[in-house]
Amino acid sequence: MKADLTVSPASESPAVPHVQLMDQMYRLQRYFYDFTRKYYLFGRDRLIADMPVSPADHVIEVGCGTGRNLVLLARKHPAAKFYGVDAAHVMIDTAQKKMASKHLNQTVFLRQGLAEDLNANAWFKVPAFDRVFFSYSLSMIPTWPAAIEAALANLKPNGELWVVDFWDQAGYPKPFAKLLKLWLALFHVHHRPELLAYLQKLESDGKGKLTIEPIGQRYAYLARFILTRPTIPSAG
Ligand SMILES: C[S@@+](CC[C@H](N)C(=O)[O-])C[C@H]1O[C@@H](n2cnc3c(N)ncnc32)[C@H](O)[C@@H]1O
Repeated sequence: MKADLTVSPASESPAVPHVQLMDQMYRLQRYFYDFTRKYYLFGRDRLIADMPVSPADHVIEVGCGTGRNLVLLARKHPAAKFYGVDAAHVMIDTAQKKMASKHLNQTVFLRQGLAEDLNANAWFKVPAFDRVFFSYSLSMIPTWPAAIEAALANLKPNGELWVVDFWDQAGYPKPFAKLLKLWLALFHVHHRPELLAYLQKLESDGKGKLTIEPIGQRYAYLARFILTRPTIPSAG
């Protein structure tokens, strides 16, 4: 399927390779990441509360960062298995240490890797996932269509893709929305209106069922896409 997409702008093609950029960015930030992000990455706890997870499920977070979400999910669903992948070696290092200190390293399995290269079997020895989720990571992934393709390709039939990320802040004063976007761009974070259009096109093509809920006055969104027909879309 060729979706109508405006892929990431040229300003998102940095001279530094993406993995190196993420490692540089989080080398020090990882030490205060969890404390600071709770003030503006809203909707993550809603995703954790709303996502259905059965005891035998395999659930992966793509762009898992410090593993904050995976710890909460693993505690909530102790019989399920969780996986995390992140581009930044330094984030995976922090997440690994966190899982060990919380005795979750037999429940949460982590590795460094790029979202677009996700491979359940090669990386984690599982055939496919029941849920794949992205929490504030697609807004940092210039190759986001390939990341979504890889997520869908690694989902079981009737598996679910969940995304929580920045929306357009349409319910707030325009200067607030503008300033927020400028500030986020300093951290290589980009609002992607075309991403929701991409998911809507998957639904209109009969590939699955999509629901989108606002967090706040469209500060962020929580999207749930249930894959009813296994598909590997091509974003071209
Ligand atoms: C804003 S943080 C979100 C971390 C975590 N999901 C959370 O909710 O706290 C975005 C994360 O995405 C990771 N990331 C960026 N590009 C990526 C890519 N192409 N593949 C995998 N992870 C990526 C970054 O290294 C970073 O840890």
